[in-house]
Amino acid sequence: MAVRVDRGPLLSMLLFIFIIFIFCQNSCDALTAPQFLKVPMDQIGVSGGVVSFVCQATGDPKPQVFWNKKGKKVNSQRIETIEFDEGAGAVLRIQPLRAPRDENAYECVAKNTEGEITKTSTLSIIREDLLPFGFPSIDMGPQLKVVERTRTATMLCAASGIPDPEISWFKDFLPVEPALSQGRIKQLRSGALQIERSEETDQGKYECVASNAQGVRYSSPANLYVRVRRVPPRFTILPSSHEIMPGGSVNITCVAVGSPMPYVKWMLNSEDLTPEDEMPVGRNVLELNGVRESANYTCVAMSSLGIIEAVAQVIVKSLPRAPGTPIVTETTPTSVTITWDSGNPDPVSYYIIQYRARSPDSKFETVDSITTTRYSIGGLYPNTEYEIRVSAVNTIGQGPPSNKVEARTGEQAPASPPRNIQARIISQNAVMVRWDEPEEPNGMIKGYRVYYTMDPSQPMSNWQIHNVQDSTITTIHSLVPSETYTIRVLAFTSVGDGPFSDPVHVKVRPGVPGQPGKFSVGKVTDTSVELTWDPAYSKEPVKVYELIYKSPDLGVQEKRNFEPRTAYVVEGLRANTEYTFSLAAVSNKGIGAFTNEISQRTAQASMCERDRIIQCVKPVLTENQWMLEVEHVCPVLSVCVTHRGLLWYPDSALERLEAAGAERPTSVFPSQSSLSERKREHN
Ligand SMILES: *[C@@H]1O[C@H](CO)[C@@H](O)[C@H](O)[C@H]1NC(C)=O
Ligand SMILES: *[C@@H]1O[C@H](CO)[C@@H](O)[C@H](O)[C@H]1NC(C)=O
Repeated sequence: MAVRVDRGPLLSMLLFIFIIFIFCQNSCDALTAPQFLKVPMDQIGVSGGVVSFVCQATGDPKPQVFWNKKGKKVNSQRIETIEFDEGAGAVLRIQPLRAPRDENAYECVAKNTEGEITKTSTLSIIREDLLPFGFPSIDMGPQLKVVERTRTATMLCAASGIPDPEISWFKDFLPVEPALSQGRIKQLRSGALQIERSEETDQGKYECVASNAQGVRYSSPANLYVRVRRVPPRFTILPSSHEIMPGGSVNITCVAVGSPMPYVKWMLNSEDLTPEDEMPVGRNVLELNGVRESANYTCVAMSSLGIIEAVAQVIVKSLPRAPGTPIVTETTPTSVTITWDSGNPDPVSYYIIQYRARSPDSKFETVDSITTTRYSIGGLYPNTEYEIRVSAVNTIGQGPPSNKVEARTGEQAPASPPRNIQARIISQNAVMVRWDEPEEPNGMIKGYRVYYTMDPSQPMSNWQIHNVQDSTITTIHSLVPSETYTIRVLAFTSVGDGPFSDPVHVKVRPGVPGQPGKFSVGKVTDTSVELTWDPAYSKEPVKVYELIYKSPDLGVQEKRNFEPRTAYVVEGLRANTEYTFSLAAVSNKGIGAFTNEISQRTAQASMCERDRIIQCVKPVLTENQWMLEVEHVCPVLSVCVTHRGLLWYPDSALERLEAAGAERPTSVFPSQSSLSERKREHN
């Protein structure tokens, strides 16, 4: 609202007065001189007893209240002034009362900048033995009492006198005012003081005061103690640890109790996460969102009685890190033991080992589900370089592999014998022996042992030994001329001896051919076996080869001689029969050593066309049965052969035999005519 001055000076003057008036409503008249709120009363006390004068004033500014005696401040050991209401109230307490010394007028003065007021009260004192009838007496005064905080305490008081005395209470020399306690403190009809929901401030020295027209009487004081239960903080819900996915959220609850109740806050390392002025009591929930890193959060509960802490681990899951480079702790010919450092602060479910032989085309082999940080990889090849690496697996997956470690397995004795042993006569009594390295040396070959004997039936320990280093050829001297020796060779590493080669034989006579080499079986049918070999070494030309073969089943031994060649097919053999073969070369100087025997079983005769009826006899016993001798009978004919020999067959079987294309029994009979006759009879 704009003020317009041009309406004239009178209007302006009225407006000014109005504004001043409005302004002074609030503050101009706020200053007031003191006025008594509580006016002290004249008192009649009993000698040796107590009296209190209570004086309280109000005003603005707040007045100061004090007590004077004859215009001077009271000052005595027995006369005490107890201030209250910030000095706007004062109790004058005299104890013990002395008559007549204390019988005076006492002035309560209330004073502020606006003025000063005084009220005078007089004190009379009566000796105990001169008390008038009806002077108040305390029949039962309050007793010392202990109350638990928040419980109800009752201070008892009973008094008598004529007229009935009024009872009031003092606490710590100040009047108790139930009216100001919002109903928490009551004075009961009996005079007792009842304090509900007691507080620590209720603790103090209580006096019950009985007064009537005759005078005033104080009870003995009684202390009320308010006991506060003191319980140091403790957690009722410990913060729990959590594993969460990257960027995840989690709420962590922490609850602590105690008396007094503790404050609860969260910290990350030394950083406060709960603002100091918003610290909740008892319970604090930490809300974490978008968590990227693992961290340890600390819940702190504190009261005047102590500080406690609990840590919640928040683990953000991620692929595990690569473990430390494995360390080889032990190697054997077939195993490598490694240990490694986890390299992961967070839990690892298990580890995976990958290893491979160090060669260009080898693939990694995997060992899964290892829960320790030490492992022996078994089933390895001896004397082989391996590379090994480890990776860790957790609930998210497999982490990157560690650096590789390289390890060589230990050596072992050779696993296979030297190959292609050859022996040649080089003089009357010397043989040169040569061979090839074993296929599986299993380490560094340190040398070879050549065993030889004239009597191969002797145990190996009785044979003679000739050791060879760094060579696959050697010469054995001092042999007995014209004798046949058997020779076997083995290889050894630093760890031990390998197996013996097959024996070779050599006849110590110059000019006699050596043993044919690589004597072995080629194509096999049901009636033939092909044999192959390398030509026998010989100074004199080989004239002929001699082959011996036999069948342990049949108990026969056959011999064949043929022109020099490197293959031969032995024919006319029986089907499904074991044969052994042995070959020697012959020169003008004589026959050389035979090879070792090799065994071969001829093939199964194929179906029915191979069934050969050797003898077919119409027996005299019955008209419709034939007696056959067969070599082999096709199973499809359901003709059971348990042994070779003469068997009885029904006619129907023979017919089926013929129908299946079996050779007719025409040529192998002891008597052609008798067969024909019999056949005719049959037909
Ligand atoms: C955490 O508590 C807040 C508030 O109560 C709620 O909105 C939120 O969904 C809770 N988060 C989790 C991960 O429980
Ligand atoms: C959390 O505390 C644990 C136990 O003391 C400790 O192993 C881990 O490394 C700590 N984690 C972080 C992220 O500090």
